Amino acid sequence: MRGKRILLIVGGGIAAYKACELVRLIRKAGGSVRCVLTRSGAEFVTPMTLAALSEQPVHTSLWDLKDEVEMGHIQLSREADLILVCPATADLLAKMAAGIADDLATTLLLATDKPVFAAPAMNVRMWLHAATRRNVARLRADGIHILEPDEGEMACGEYGPGRLPQPEAILAWVGRAVGDAGARPLEGRHVLVTAGPTHEPIDPVRMIANRSSGKQGFAIAGALADLGARVTLVAGPVALPTPAGVARVDVETADQMDAAVRAALPADAAILVAAVADWKVEAAPAKLKKAEGPPRLEWSANPDILANLAASPQRPPLLVGFAAETGNVVETARNKRSAKNADWIVANDVSGDVMGGESNQVHLITAETVESWEQAPKTEIARRLAERIAGRLTERT
Ligand code: CTP
Repeated sequence: MRGKRILLIVGGGIAAYKACELVRLIRKAGGSVRCVLTRSGAEFVTPMTLAALSEQPVHTSLWDLKDEVEMGHIQLSREADLILVCPATADLLAKMAAGIADDLATTLLLATDKPVFAAPAMNVRMWLHAATRRNVARLRADGIHILEPDEGEMACGEYGPGRLPQPEAILAWVGRAVGDAGARPLEGRHVLVTAGPTHEPIDPVRMIANRSSGKQGFAIAGALADLGARVTLVAGPVALPTPAGVARVDVETADQMDAAVRAALPADAAILVAAVADWKVEAAPAKLKKAEGPPRLEWSANPDILANLAASPQRPPLLVGFAAETGNVVETARNKRSAKNADWIVANDVSGDVMGGESNQVHLITAETVESWEQAPKTEIARRLAERIAGRLTERT
């Protein structure tokens, strides 16, 4: 936080009192804070409190002419290093998701090109409501960092997720994301990730699919973004939210995935985690009827996205493939690495419940070495791999 200028938007919820402590902590950590209070935020904490703690004027209205002369709202967001919304109410999240700008806080949020962090706090049913789920997913897809609220007893007497985490935890979360250059070694790098299965249509209602859940690939995309990379995630059909700070391109078939990968080039690294169907069939234009008997499917090969990328003039300097095997894992994956001309292969044994599960046990295979990593949550594997990728990319320059 040292030297960082934070624009803190305080929404109207009982958790607003924790924003006061947050101001104090940010300043103690060497940052400076300028506060904006929404109209309802001002019902919970006073501008005087925040002004005293931040030792800066507090802004509340878009129509404060004096402020527009001395400091327009665009400048207010321009001069900050990041915007933190805390607490982010259901109403504020909804306005942000819809791009509504009807007061100072929401106008600043729409006018900024700085990283935006939101720490939601609200009643459990409001947090779990389909509208809020939708808004949070939308905002994450837009690149807004959203902190998961804590679970526990709430001011309203109910129990569940929706509580604002402690100010120390919020500060640590923001600090990790903005970090210094050391914490964001992939700043300025573009990394391409594929994830999930592909679906190959048989007719308008049927398809060929596989059991890939996309969890490992999504976790890797998120971990790379946490290290500062610009991440393009080409995702097959999966039911997963987009990790914060990741640009997602949804596709269905292997052909579409191949095209999306090419369109996203150039990249400093590509991590191909997707379980791409090796074959497709000639899809029937109309639904196949049972009475006509078992269909004869005309099979043809799908593009091998990894091999194509390896042979392309735009081959990323670091190309990482995955190999899901059910036997002889390391040997098969080693052969795959050289056959496909990848730099690394991350191999795993999928004979258990890895596909769709939360943990994984992988081997990292390079030209020189084979490392066997212990079983770990997919998020932990992702973090470790992202750090290895960062190490490799920074050592090259
Ligand atoms: N891959 C790809 N395009 C394909 C098939 C695979 O990009 N059409 C990539 C995967 O994303 C993965 C790697 O290649 O990174 C290995 O995938 P895998 O399915 O294990 O390899 P295959 O060549 O299909 O071998 P197998 O015969 O084991 O299916």
